[in-house]
Amino acid sequence: MSSASTFICSRAAGPLRGTLRVPGDKSVSHRAIMLAALADGVSRIDGFLEGEDTRATARAFASMGVRIEQPEDCVRVVHGVGMRGLRAPTQPIDCGNAGTGMRLLCGLLAAQDFDSVLVGDESLSKRPMLRVVEPLRKMGGRIETASNGWPPLVIRGGAKLQGIEYALPVASAQVKSALLLAGLYADGETVVLEPHPTRDYTESMLSAFGIRIDHRPGMARLTGGQSLRAAHIKVPADFSSAAFFITAASMVPGSDVLLQEVGINPRRTGLLQALRLMGADIDLVNERSSGGEMIADIRVRAARLHGAEIPDHLVPDMIDEFPVLFAAAAAADGITRVTGAAELRVKESDRLAAMANGLRAAGIDVEETADGASIRGGVLGSAQIESHGDHRISMAFAVAAQVGSGELRIQDCANVATSFPGFDRLAVSCGMDVRVST
Ligand code: S3P
Repeated sequence: MSSASTFICSRAAGPLRGTLRVPGDKSVSHRAIMLAALADGVSRIDGFLEGEDTRATARAFASMGVRIEQPEDCVRVVHGVGMRGLRAPTQPIDCGNAGTGMRLLCGLLAAQDFDSVLVGDESLSKRPMLRVVEPLRKMGGRIETASNGWPPLVIRGGAKLQGIEYALPVASAQVKSALLLAGLYADGETVVLEPHPTRDYTESMLSAFGIRIDHRPGMARLTGGQSLRAAHIKVPADFSSAAFFITAASMVPGSDVLLQEVGINPRRTGLLQALRLMGADIDLVNERSSGGEMIADIRVRAARLHGAEIPDHLVPDMIDEFPVLFAAAAAADGITRVTGAAELRVKESDRLAAMANGLRAAGIDVEETADGASIRGGVLGSAQIESHGDHRISMAFAVAAQVGSGELRIQDCANVATSFPGFDRLAVSCGMDVRVST
């Protein structure tokens, strides 16, 4: 998938069947490149996501003098340069579509002794950056944004950072991670407190790279001045990519699929609880630890889904899964209600609006609120859908169409490759009717 004119046509086919493996976790892949680059010694990353977002992060570090080899697909060998070994990039660093890439890099670059500029694509250029810039300024970082708090970010080198204790106003693993990365370089202690626990990959991976870090759900604390030593990282399959198949198999009668070796970090798997509230039949098989992360095979059999109230406390644990949850809600009997999810408005697109508008275009009754929506299940008809260039909106509608009565033509789908290269091939391999055209 390569151009903005790429579209997906999706319609109902048969049940989903088979054993599937989705690509590596995006969050883990970003962090693995970053920490390996800063480590002393050579690190190996297995299961790296060959997505546009994570490749952009690898390119960013290559542009700062880090040698990164790719002996084969989904493997990177990173020759770490140590905490003070990055070199000034000669050009602005392009983070592509990746909010994670930009926000984490911002924390890291705020502590370097050279200037840098972070830019992104059209979507990333309209995403809020003050949430990370303001606390970094409190630490002594010198960072400018465009006047509305959007990228580009201009970061002045040579700042002397001071550790702070910071209570995040919004639960965000990206902001927490940016502060922890800056904290590695700061004088004294950096403490981050969260209003609700978020994914803890930065904390556990810092620990795997030899950093002493104290963390528990909702709190992370480290002292600056430590160094990282090389590590071997095994990236689990991405739960957020598996989510499209978990949901499709739940919805399409007769389906029975097994998703292999999926990361099941509890801060990621809220969708399982939400779908179970809706009547889904999902089993975790063979739960085990791999490279410090819990993984499992996930068996999903079709079930008759019914509407449910999604509890607010699940929101951070399924923050990336709302588009596909909306697809499930559209296929369920009765009403599904989502609240407390205003963050969805500042993702790769305004995901509440994108899902509500697309489902309405296909004939589903959706009432949108400031922080959520009520969706009355029904049957989707044919429609043209605007994905707003958002990978998860595109894939969510490809799933929704699997129980529709017509065809969805989903516009502007090139960005599916940011997180899930090969989505369409995998979908077809298990029985979905998903066609990509340009
Ligand atoms: C991510 C954190 C989440 C998530 C994003 C990836 C991460 O963003 O939506 O896709 O890797 O830390 P927020 O931290 O902004 O909620």
